[in-house]
Amino acid sequence: MSKYNEETINKLRELDRRHYLHPTTSLKEHQENGPKRIFTEGKGIYLTDVNGDQYIDALSSLWNVNIGHGRKELGEVASKQMGKLAYSSSFNNLSHETVIQLSEKLATITPGDLNVFFYTSGGSESNDTAFKLVRHYWKMKGKPEKKKIIGLERAYHGITMGATSATGIKQFHNMTNSLAPDFLHAAAHKTNCEYGDKSDSDFSRSIRGIIENEGPESIAAVIVEPIQGAGGVIIPPEDYLEAVRELCDQYGILMIADEVICGFGRTGKMFGVDNWNVVPDLMCIAKGITSGYIPLGAVAISERLRDSLSEVSNDVFFHGFTYSGHPTACAVALKNIEILQKEKLTENARNLESVLQKGFKYLEEKHSIFTKPRAKGLLGAFELFEDREENIPFAPEKMAAQKLVEECLTRKLIVRAVTFGGTNIIALSPPLVITRVEIENLIDILSNSIQALEKSVKFQSV
Ligand SMILES: Cc1ncc(COP(=O)(O)O)c(C=O)c1O
Repeated sequence: MSKYNEETINKLRELDRRHYLHPTTSLKEHQENGPKRIFTEGKGIYLTDVNGDQYIDALSSLWNVNIGHGRKELGEVASKQMGKLAYSSSFNNLSHETVIQLSEKLATITPGDLNVFFYTSGGSESNDTAFKLVRHYWKMKGKPEKKKIIGLERAYHGITMGATSATGIKQFHNMTNSLAPDFLHAAAHKTNCEYGDKSDSDFSRSIRGIIENEGPESIAAVIVEPIQGAGGVIIPPEDYLEAVRELCDQYGILMIADEVICGFGRTGKMFGVDNWNVVPDLMCIAKGITSGYIPLGAVAISERLRDSLSEVSNDVFFHGFTYSGHPTACAVALKNIEILQKEKLTENARNLESVLQKGFKYLEEKHSIFTKPRAKGLLGAFELFEDREENIPFAPEKMAAQKLVEECLTRKLIVRAVTFGGTNIIALSPPLVITRVEIENLIDILSNSIQALEKSVKFQSV
């Protein structure tokens, strides 16, 4: 039952329409219709809206609520930390207990020698920090011309200037009329090219092709998501990340892993790169570090990198956010990681991958428009095709993926459509506390929604 009467709901909707500029939203649609749903509560995998309707949050909101909604423990540690030391800065070599504890904890779970942490308030800030760090590093090493960053096509790295420029999705570039210089984009997942296969017609678009064309002396770093998330949950071929690691080593280029989605158990390992035993030089983390309960991000760097920076420069490291190492955010992160580990949520993600895959198989057998299912841990996706046998996609005007999202929403299930480049991808990334039965329920709702979509789009000519 809703605690909100119609008048209150209408007032909230109108105030939202009047005063709230929504992120990543069609502003026209918002102005015409107001917000789609207004949520008031969360528990486990569920969100409840002002009407009292309960939805399955199958994207963990923004791929971030890993431990699920409504965990009172996080509020309690935040309140305790605020009562003790809500905020203090780490500028000018000051410190506090909670950031030290979090750094020690993170060092025990990050791969290899990534044992040193710089803190931010989110993924974009982490990526921009990584870009400045690698350029600073090469400058300090006497190689100031090493400044170009190579990202991948369809990659998403965030919305600050560097992160947007590194992103390989043109809609994010087109939103503005000026981007940061020295960012290049390579075709994703061309493993053979990265190993040196020049006979491939895509060689010049590969990371290796670009490095060899531009000259390795001009390239500072390569940034990759272990699994591309917002670009449509694109899992790389088995030995791709190893190929990129080798390539970076061969040419003396730093490798940055953007673990903003993959980190903290999402893929069935603590970090995405752990699936391939690759250790990057820098790792950007955010989202799952606090499960979204409070903003926090970080860049993990190797001790080697820190040592070489501290050896070559007596100067101040001129980079720091007011909220770098925010005590309350650090306290929440510590509790969040404790819950992830105590409740074995990474293992849960790994174990339930097969349940999700089984559900996908069922959907594939039942629905002819369902195709290309994939999942790693609890990060999954599938695609909608007009004719999957003949590989004919739906025409963009049919808005198949967007319509499926609406059908799901009607049935109280929240999923994400990825339609860049004419794709009709549906992404799933449920909280890691989800159970087998809840996944089966989710698959049933998806099936009913796909059936409704089939009736509305499949046999209609546009
Ligand atoms: C892989 C990746 N990197 C970076 C970001 C940006 O993070 P934020 O939105 O916290 O700035 C995102 C956000 O979705 C992401 O998915």
